[in-house]
Parts: sequence; structure tokens; C-alpha cells
Amino acid sequence: MTRLIIDTDPGVDDAIAIAIAALSPDTDLLGVTTVYGNVGLAKTTRNALRLLELCGRDDVPVAAGAAMPLVHPQKRRDSTAHGDDGLSGHADVLPEPSRDAVAGGAVGLMASLLEQSEEPVTIAPIGPLTNIAVLLAAYPHLKPKIERLVIMGGALEGGNVSARAEFNVWSDPEAARRVLVEEDVPSVLVPMDLTYRCAVDTAWLERLAASGHVGEALRALTPDYVRHYTGALGWPCMVVHDAVAIVEAITPGTLATESLPVDIECSFGPSRGAVIADRRRQAQIDDTVALDGNRVDVAVDTDIDQLRAVLLDGITEKREI
Ligand code: RIB
Ligand code: CA
Repeated sequence: MTRLIIDTDPGVDDAIAIAIAALSPDTDLLGVTTVYGNVGLAKTTRNALRLLELCGRDDVPVAAGAAMPLVHPQKRRDSTAHGDDGLSGHADVLPEPSRDAVAGGAVGLMASLLEQSEEPVTIAPIGPLTNIAVLLAAYPHLKPKIERLVIMGGALEGGNVSARAEFNVWSDPEAARRVLVEEDVPSVLVPMDLTYRCAVDTAWLERLAASGHVGEALRALTPDYVRHYTGALGWPCMVVHDAVAIVEAITPGTLATESLPVDIECSFGPSRGAVIADRRRQAQIDDTVALDGNRVDVAVDTDIDQLRAVLLDGITEKREI
């Protein structure tokens, strides 16, 4: 059983990720915390509440976190990919939430869940890393209660929000550097280099719609997102970045990883928000300029067809026998 907290900015791919975790019999979903990102904090929080309502999980507490980055504001909000409401303009297909977000904020909820848990907890940040940077800075004594961070973010080659940067890291590079370089919590980074390879096609989406009432509702949230990724990749598809990370969080070892020194570009040049991973052989690194900070387990490969099947199975309603 994986004890899990998801930190999220729903977001169409976040929606699929949250549903997989909420419906997983192998997951104790302790809480969902929200952050600005795909859309503003009020919308990401409302979307999280509605998605958990859809999954019949109004028992899972939701708490709102950061409304803006640690230090420097985002240049623009990437709402085109996910639509103005964060869910392709179709958030209204989801049920109204039956409760509000809890008081005390995202970092307060994460801290209390970590304190209360008898076992270490996996945290899956699938949006900008602002809440996680604040949690680690404000509650350093709780780091031993974190099993690991499974982070969707970064790009080792080309980016999505810019030529070199992926959206989550680009949104708050200082927070990403704090978490991935300056802190020392065991971390898996799931970059878009891998998530792009796991893109799903329209046939997969039709199977999602036929998988039950949750899948049918999720499918309804995808039109803007499919349009965005069809343009980005050149074929009818969408990229479920966050769901790839959540499958790894729930089932460690799903993704093949390489332990790499990484750094984050925080200057204000064209590479701001880039993840620099040093993939040279250790002997060469030892002889030359090395990156600071701890190593991160960077996800580099998986059985892609098997992963797509696991994603769908995680949402498919299981018939009572
Ligand atoms: O770059 C992909 C990431 O940015 C995903 O988490 C998506 O939801 C957006 O937040
Ligand atoms: Ca996200």
C-alpha cells in the first residue's frame, strides 16, 4: 500500500492522474494539495475538489497552496493547453464539490499528514514545485517522513513552454532548484522526454470514455488538450504527463531511471527553467567541472504499451462479481 499525497495544478493530465490514485486499491491517498500553474489557484483548487467528488472520494482532504512562485512571477499563464477553466472549458461536466478545501493551507496539510503518518509518505508533485520548496524549508524535521518525491517535470532535451524548459520547472525555477539540488530528499524526476513518448491516441481516449462514468467524464475534459498536443506532436494525441508520474509513485519501478547529477537554470536568459542533467561517465565528471547538489533518479524509459494499459485499467470501473 502506497501512502500518497498529490500536489497538483489540475489541469487535464492532472485530472487523469488524480483519478488513477483516487481509484487505486493499492494507494492510501492521504491528501491533495493545490498550486497555481495550468490555471490560477482558485480554479486548480475547485477542479481538485470536483475531480475527487467524481471519484467518490470526498473523504480525501484538499488544501490550497501557493498562488504564485517563490521569488519571480510567471511571465504568462499557460492556460491555452488546458482551457480557461483548466479542463478544456468543460469543468461543468464534473459534480459540484460537497465540501470546501480545508483550512490551514497546502503546506500545513502536508505537514500534519506527514506528522500523523506512522510510515513514510510518497509525495507526487505534478505542478510547479513552490509548495514543496516551502514544505521542506519550513519543516526540515519532517523530511525523514517523506519516502520519496515523484516529480513530473523537467526536460533533458527540448522543452514545451520554451525551447529548453518544461512548464512545471519553468513556472518556478528557484523552487525546483531548491527541491532538486539544494535539498536531499530521495527524488524521482519524470521529465517530458519520457512522458511525450507515452502519448495516448484517440483510440485510447475512446476506450477511456467506455471504461465507466469516471472515464466518460474525464474524456469530456480533453478536447482543448488533444488539440494542443495534436499541434505539438503532429498526430491526434494527448500527453498524460502527470499520470505517468503517478503510476510510478503508486508502483515503484514502473519507470527505468538513471541516477544523475542535475541543476536548474535560474538565470533570466533563454534557458531559464532548463534542467541540466550530467549524463557523462563518472570518470569524465571526476576530471572536469561537476554539478553541485544531490543526484536525482531521472526516469528515462518504460514499457510504453504496458503503461498505457495500466493507465486505462486504473480508471476502468471493476464489475462486481
Ligand atoms: O509540462 C507538463 C506539466 O505542466 C504537467 O504537469 C501539466 O499538467 C502542466 O502542469
Ligand atoms: Ca500538472
